[in-house]
Amino acid sequence: MSETQASTIKTIEWTEAGVRMIDQTLLPAHEVYRTYTDYQGVAEAIRSMVIRGAPAIGVAAAMGVALGVKNSNAASADALRADFELIARTISATRPTAVNLFWAVERTRRVFESALAEAASEEQAIAAAKERLVKEAQRMLAEDIAVNEAMGRAGAALLPDRGVVLTHCNAGALATGGYGTALGVIRAAVDAGKKIEVFADETRPFLQGARLTAWELSRDGIPVTIITDSMAGHFMKEGRIRAAIVGADRIAANGDVANKIGTYTVAVLARENGIPFYVAAPLSTIDLKLASGDEIPIEQRSAREVTHVAGVAIAPEAVRAQHPAFDVTPHRYVTAIITERGVAREPYTESLAALFGSKVNSRQSTVHSQG
Ligand code: MRU
Repeated sequence: MSETQASTIKTIEWTEAGVRMIDQTLLPAHEVYRTYTDYQGVAEAIRSMVIRGAPAIGVAAAMGVALGVKNSNAASADALRADFELIARTISATRPTAVNLFWAVERTRRVFESALAEAASEEQAIAAAKERLVKEAQRMLAEDIAVNEAMGRAGAALLPDRGVVLTHCNAGALATGGYGTALGVIRAAVDAGKKIEVFADETRPFLQGARLTAWELSRDGIPVTIITDSMAGHFMKEGRIRAAIVGADRIAANGDVANKIGTYTVAVLARENGIPFYVAAPLSTIDLKLASGDEIPIEQRSAREVTHVAGVAIAPEAVRAQHPAFDVTPHRYVTAIITERGVAREPYTESLAALFGSKVNSRQSTVHSQG
């Protein structure tokens, strides 16, 4: 990766003082870092979207669990287990759609239980559980960055050699441990010499595109232009957009993709205009337990996030508003799903399941293609 395209943003890190995050609610106006010293603070940071984006939420969840267990005064393994369950429940109740959050909590649970089981005494069990959870959370952050880089290598060839690529929401360094999923593929393509320009949907109502994608791409020297969500169809019809690429919050076994509200519109418009629509997501975002996207829980957020922008009312007082935070794109609109283990294509029920059985190959992508 060249110096120019490497993202230097530290979205989240474990420090001696606590879990440190860049406050994404304040970007791009203010670059403020917050340090959370208890798990309740981490849970609130996830809920209020100080940290957001499926893989970043997963890392935050693991660090929140580690922080909560580390701070526990429990004097027995049973008491520590009760604390663990309370922490896990609190963190799991923050946001329902991104499966990475639940995946991360389950992963910490396995580490916690094995630390308790392997220790010789109660005292050692408590110390080992605390130490191993902190290490595991740090490992999950490092792994996430490596996984994103592998996704970049797997997906870069799919993007055009030059021209405009559309993205929706923010699936970049800010949404992950670093590098990004959809923006990671774009970063890798730019590093490979492709002359790519990004059109970023502003992504109403939370404006992740205008505030976050535009901020991190311009910081890294990748040309970016903001368009309102309603302009995407116009630019596609004019022939300006060569490909669309987004991240995901949860992908069902059949390839249906839950992602930021408005993604479905982009996918349908892309199909109508003969433009490939790619999804980049790690295996931790794929939920094989759900047969289709109909089963994915969709978070309903506050109507105030629709009626107000940066605290200023843009609608008549007391008018009703709806705010589903995600939508589900049926798999038939998805040209390919890019993962750290290669690229999956229709039929997704087979190609996604096969990825879970295959070995990670960071150099070469395993392409499951129907032609
Ligand atoms: O509500 P958000 O900002 O957490 O939603 C984020 C998205 O929808 C992203 O596209 C998705 O999590 C993929 S991030 C790599």
